[in-house]
Amino acid sequence: MAQRAVIIGAGGGIGGACVAAFAGAGWAVLGADRAPGAGVSALDVTDADAVAAFAEGAGGVDAVVYAAGVVDTMPIAETDFARWRRVMAVNLDGAAHVAAAFARSMIARGAGGAMVFLSSAAGLRGEANASAYCASKAGLRGLVEAAAAELVPHHIRVNALAPGNVDTPMLREVAAGIARATGRDVAAVWDDLARTGAARRIIGPDEVARVALSLCTPGFSAVTGATLPVDAGYLLA
Ligand SMILES: NC(=O)c1ccc[n+]([C@@H]2O[C@H](COP(=O)([O-])OP(=O)(O)OC[C@H]3O[C@@H](n4cnc5c(N)ncnc54)[C@H](O)[C@@H]3O)[C@@H](O)[C@H]2O)c1
Repeated sequence: MAQRAVIIGAGGGIGGACVAAFAGAGWAVLGADRAPGAGVSALDVTDADAVAAFAEGAGGVDAVVYAAGVVDTMPIAETDFARWRRVMAVNLDGAAHVAAAFARSMIARGAGGAMVFLSSAAGLRGEANASAYCASKAGLRGLVEAAAAELVPHHIRVNALAPGNVDTPMLREVAAGIARATGRDVAAVWDDLARTGAARRIIGPDEVARVALSLCTPGFSAVTGATLPVDAGYLLA
C-alpha cells in the first residue's frame, strides 16, 4: 500500500511543490491550507483544536510536511506586536500544533514516521527588519530538536529545512514590498534577491520539495533533529 503524506500549506509555492514531489514518488497525499483549493482541505494552523481534529481525521500518516508560513517586515524599534503575534501564531504556534497532533497520532499508530518543518536561512542568521520572522524560524529549530529527542523511541524523525530565496508567492510579495518601500523597480529588486549570498540565484520550490521528500525516506533513517540549509550556498557569503 502507498505511504501517506500530509502537506500543510499545500496551497503555497513550496507546499504545492511538496504535493507534486510526494505524489510523483507514489505517495498518497492529503493537503491542507488556510486557502483551500483543488484537493486541498481548509485548515487554519493557528487553531489548535482544528489541527487536532484534522490529524485525527487524517488516519494513518507516514510523513508530515509543515510548509505553512507568513512573512512580515518592520524595524525592531517600530515593532507592531499584533503583527509580531500573527507571524509567531502561524510560523511557530501552528508548527507546534501540528507537531503535537501528529506526534499523538503517530505514537498511537506505532509505525514510526517523519516530520519536516519549513524553517528558513533567516532562522539561522538574522536579517535586518525581520525580527519576528527570524525569531519564529529560529524557534522552529528548538521545537524540532526537542520533539526529535523525545520521539526517537517511537521511530519518529523530526527535521527542518532552512531554504534561502525560493521562487514562490511569498518571495514575490517580499520583492513587491521592497519595491513599494524604496520606489525601485520590482525586477531590479528580484535581481538583487537573486544575487544575495553565495547562491547567486533564486532556488526553485521543486528543489526544496525534493529534499523534504528525501528526508521522509529510509535513506535518511539516521537523520533527526537537524535543520538543513537548502540554500545553494546563501549562508556561505
Ligand atoms: N519563499 C522563500 O524564499 C522561503 C525561504 C525560506 C523559508 N520559506 C518558508 O517556507 C514555507 C513556505 O513558504 P512559501 O514560500 O511556499 O510561501 P507561500 O506564501 O507560497 O505559501 C505559504 C502557504 O501557507 C499558507 N498559510 C498561511 N497562513 C496559514 C494558516 N494560518 N493556516 C494554514 N495555512 C496557512 C498560505 O495560505 C500559503 O498557501 C514558509 O514557512 C516560509 O516561511 C520560504
